Amino acid sequence: MNILILGGGGREHALAWAVMQNPKCDKLIVAPGNAGIAKIADCAALDIEDGAAVIGFAEAEAIDFIIIGPEAPLAAGVSDDLRGAGFLVFGPSQAAAQLEASKAFTKEICDAAGAPTAGYGHFTDAETAKAYIRENGAPIVVKADGLAAGKGVVVAMNEAEALEAVDDMFGGAFGGAGAEVVIEEFMEGEEASFFILCDGTDVLAIGTAQDHKRVGNGDTGPNTGGMGAYSPAPVLSDAIAERAMREIVKPCMAEMARRGTPYQGVLYAGLMIKDGAPRLVEYNARFGDPECQVLMMRLGGQALDLMQAAAQERLAETQVNWADDHAITVVMAANGYPGAYEKGSVIEGLEGLLEDSFNMTFHAGTALSDGAIVATGGRVLNVTARGASLAEAHKRAYEMVDAIDWPGGFFRSDIGWRAL
Ligand code: AMP
Ligand code: GLY
Repeated sequence: MNILILGGGGREHALAWAVMQNPKCDKLIVAPGNAGIAKIADCAALDIEDGAAVIGFAEAEAIDFIIIGPEAPLAAGVSDDLRGAGFLVFGPSQAAAQLEASKAFTKEICDAAGAPTAGYGHFTDAETAKAYIRENGAPIVVKADGLAAGKGVVVAMNEAEALEAVDDMFGGAFGGAGAEVVIEEFMEGEEASFFILCDGTDVLAIGTAQDHKRVGNGDTGPNTGGMGAYSPAPVLSDAIAERAMREIVKPCMAEMARRGTPYQGVLYAGLMIKDGAPRLVEYNARFGDPECQVLMMRLGGQALDLMQAAAQERLAETQVNWADDHAITVVMAANGYPGAYEKGSVIEGLEGLLEDSFNMTFHAGTALSDGAIVATGGRVLNVTARGASLAEAHKRAYEMVDAIDWPGGFFRSDIGWRAL
């Protein structure tokens, strides 16, 4: 099978690594890819948000299966274009990807499905939004409706902060994403991520994870895209996962199908868990980054079979082979991230690292320059390991981190602390 993966981050490196373990894969191309991906697959420059360009490329390369990594091509409808041209695709339609692209849409689906989530109001002007905040008081959560690269959420601990967030969002701080605003009840509890494959009719849980959003040790400092993750998430016990499936995921998927927009791909459910009860924080229409790295480390080559089964509407007859193992990934980021960061610093020590089914360093933002690996992004490396226990995986991952020589970067030294 000839496979094309769209994207070029650590998530796509992990997807590529898993797909390559599967003997079904004859040829793998990742577009645009990065310097780490280039070591295991072909990389191609391609505008992945341009459906016609992706179709042309996939036809020329005789591609049989296309896996879409990031949200931007999904929101742009690239999966619809590809399906329209007859390709087998892993990734939801533009209409179904609204579950990530619009927070108000997700709330509407939860209402219709009776899925537990925070109480909310949906606003198109600042005055009504502010009246709602004054009426409900703080803490309260203000969200730009659209895609804002994870930055459109303000968890306001007091009323003044919430009112200011409303002014910022309607004032254009997040561009079009903030033209509509959702204001939510603040939920207490512990957060965890639940990953479910969906084929439009059936669903299949493929793992749980927890990430670390704050930049600093002890969960301090500004929010980031994620500084590390581990799987499984102990807080998402089998019983709670089963309950989340029954009360949240299945009713929402049924509602999507009822509306004529069945969801097919991976559904990433962000859950808040309190007293054994899960509530939905948000959906994403893709794998988490860096959560995907730990999931792929645990699933290995079967990930390809699972994604293909979802695309072919065969999940009812598909099973996951679980190993009783643990994985952890430590993000190494460029100094300054998540603010302005330096680009081009040289990373050394990567050649000596183990690369096997227990140890992998996934590249998130790297390029090859004059024979050296240099940093090109904020999050740059995802140092990932697997073990029989989280402690063993943790030890392996940090041994690799210590062997990497990169003065231009930093990492959190406490990934997994909550579970360890
Ligand atoms: P989201 O982009 O919707 O996942 O929001 C980003 C982060 O804000 C979440 O991961 C939570 O930590 C926090 N958050 C979002 N909504 C709520 C809520 N209703 N109550 C408490 N925290 C929330
Ligand atoms: N790590 C969070 C996300 O991918 O949205």
